[in-house]
Amino acid sequence: MKSRAILDGVWWLGTLDWERRLFDSLIPLPDGTSYNTYLIKGSEKTVLVDTADERRKREFCLALEEIPKVDYVVSHHVEQDHSGLLGLVLERYPQARVLCSDKAKPMLIDHLHLQPERIQPVADGKKLSLGDMTLQFIYTPWVHWPETMCTYLAERKVLFSCDFFGSHLATSDLFATGPRVYEAAKRYFAEIMMPFRAAIEKNLEKLKPYPISTIAPSHGPVHREASFIMNAYREWVSGQPKNLAVIPYVSMHDSTARMVDFLAQKLIENGVQVELFELTSADLGKLAMSLVDAATLILGTSTVLAGPHPLAVYAAFLANALRPKPRWLSLVGSYGWGGRTVEIITGLLGNIKAEILEPVLCKGLPRQEDLQKLEGLARAVAERHQQLNK
Ligand code: FEO
Repeated sequence: MKSRAILDGVWWLGTLDWERRLFDSLIPLPDGTSYNTYLIKGSEKTVLVDTADERRKREFCLALEEIPKVDYVVSHHVEQDHSGLLGLVLERYPQARVLCSDKAKPMLIDHLHLQPERIQPVADGKKLSLGDMTLQFIYTPWVHWPETMCTYLAERKVLFSCDFFGSHLATSDLFATGPRVYEAAKRYFAEIMMPFRAAIEKNLEKLKPYPISTIAPSHGPVHREASFIMNAYREWVSGQPKNLAVIPYVSMHDSTARMVDFLAQKLIENGVQVELFELTSADLGKLAMSLVDAATLILGTSTVLAGPHPLAVYAAFLANALRPKPRWLSLVGSYGWGGRTVEIITGLLGNIKAEILEPVLCKGLPRQEDLQKLEGLARAVAERHQQLNK
């Protein structure tokens, strides 16, 4: 693809991956993604910012045909979707050096076998003159690995942020517009960033002194209204959940499904917002997005071979790894003759520091007394949620 100007002296050289449906062999990408490289031409030095995934090598090479000289290539993040073509850049531009954080250098050598002498670490806060423009490197660890950093271009008030503020979205729109980008950015936050909420809060604080008008991430469209995405991140990382109960569930012979339907109805009657995810067909990215806001997480599962259904185990494992902020947890489900479902599921959710509300498990089809217990659970959730805005 031809370069597209985003500001005076700054171009986007992105490659669009319309077909990709899975990232890290784990994360669903319903709208594909992009790998954004940026070109900054100062009066004396020319810089590339990040590269692309090896999957898009051909398009990346075509984009480089317009660029006769590169002095530096900034590597914000070692993950291969951004650093995968660094070796190709170094081969094509023998004078070029890779600029990265201190932690990134050994990682680039391990993951990409780059030559150490071509890698020049830059200190946190270090400035680099390009002639008429100046880059400043800002370490922003854990967005999304420990070595990540951002680059600030003071003369244009642009922050090149790599994964931070990104969205998995293949689109011909160069700039972010409307709810579609908000949705994609929230999904991205939920799937990639949520486990690092504390680090993100610190990084948002660290960026405060910099007047930022434009955010140029390495996935998805460029934000010309930087405050829009920065404010969204502030809300998502905040410790305050919403009046929402999320119920991922799986049911083998309808008993658990009946319990979940009844519980959802009672929660709604008690003024609690509810989102259900039937796990044999659920979009796990949407489930992750709901967990950004949820005050309560209730897993529903049948019992199989004396334990929870494997899909419920998978959902619990993912929820635990994503470290969302629910304050209350519970479990509902049905069993045939016994099992250790409660013990196994609660053992999988150790990262979520929440109060466990009395689980409701019943033998076979739920009876009247089981429905009464579910009604009690719904009331307990509603009462707890009353505390949320105090
Ligand atoms: Fe887009 Fe963490 O890589």
